[in-house]
Amino acid sequence: MVVKVNNSREYVFTEKDFNSLRKIANNHTGIIVTDDKYDMYYARLVKRIRALKLGSFADYVKYLKNNMSMEFTPFIDSITTNLTSFFREPHHFEMMRDSIIPDLCGRSDVGQGIKVWSAGCSTGEEPYTLAITLLDELGGIRNAPKPKILASDIDTTVLAKASRGVYELSRVEGLETGIKRRWFFKGKGSNAGNVRVSPELQKVIEFKQVNLMQEWPITGRFHIIFCRNVVIYFDKPTKTKLLNRYADQLVDGGYMILGHSESLQGLTDRFQTIGKTVYKKIG
Ligand SMILES: C[S@@+](CC[C@H](N)C(=O)[O-])C[C@H]1O[C@@H](n2cnc3c(N)ncnc32)[C@H](O)[C@@H]1O
Repeated sequence: MVVKVNNSREYVFTEKDFNSLRKIANNHTGIIVTDDKYDMYYARLVKRIRALKLGSFADYVKYLKNNMSMEFTPFIDSITTNLTSFFREPHHFEMMRDSIIPDLCGRSDVGQGIKVWSAGCSTGEEPYTLAITLLDELGGIRNAPKPKILASDIDTTVLAKASRGVYELSRVEGLETGIKRRWFFKGKGSNAGNVRVSPELQKVIEFKQVNLMQEWPITGRFHIIFCRNVVIYFDKPTKTKLLNRYADQLVDGGYMILGHSESLQGLTDRFQTIGKTVYKKIG
């Protein structure tokens, strides 16, 4: 292991401190923290050190261990990577529209609702994109089932932003005009420069904190699970366990969608590949 320690900074951050912090992160979230995250850890956690008026990273490690119930949330919120966007990896939403939603609408196990889980939803762009896709598609079908989306993350700061549903205008600029017109309202006055998502989207989404490494406070099964750009940070045994738990949480023939650099290959045989990072539960 070669961590490039930088000694010329405001606060001392030794390899031992980094190792302690990444071990705590890994134990609680499953995230593998590689050596190259040393600088990122410094940049993100230095804010906590200032806020708590501590003298070094060693002090922060001690503080975190002694005040786990209080400091755990700000710690996790600081170190997670939350990059996301509306209609990210658009082929998934095209596939939803062209084949997944039509398939589900014809199935008896759907009943009154199509249940979807956006696991690791970050600031909400993914579940709102799901809501737009489902409402737009189901709106044109008679007696269509209603969408019901669970959007979860471990990070409470991003979840708060997600449930608020207010974004900078630039986040939606590239979207189709019709989508912007139907589903986003431009802010005025002090809200100029922002958009708010339509309450119709918020009505079909429940936001909830869920740590994927722990018990899930969830009842019932889903027809579709999106878990994109989350498992990439986990080691192989953690990925295998999580993906088998997802299989248990899906109905038979349910859909599992991963991120662009993720795959089920060599992890579980409970799914068949039906598209680019799109899988169907077979067992
Ligand atoms: C890069 S974002 C992906 C956002 C969205 N799914 C997408 O693809 O655009 C990864 C998210 O996974 C969350 N995450 C990481 N480990 C987690 C865990 N153990 N339980 C729940 N969420 C976790 C992070 O907080 C972060 O918001």
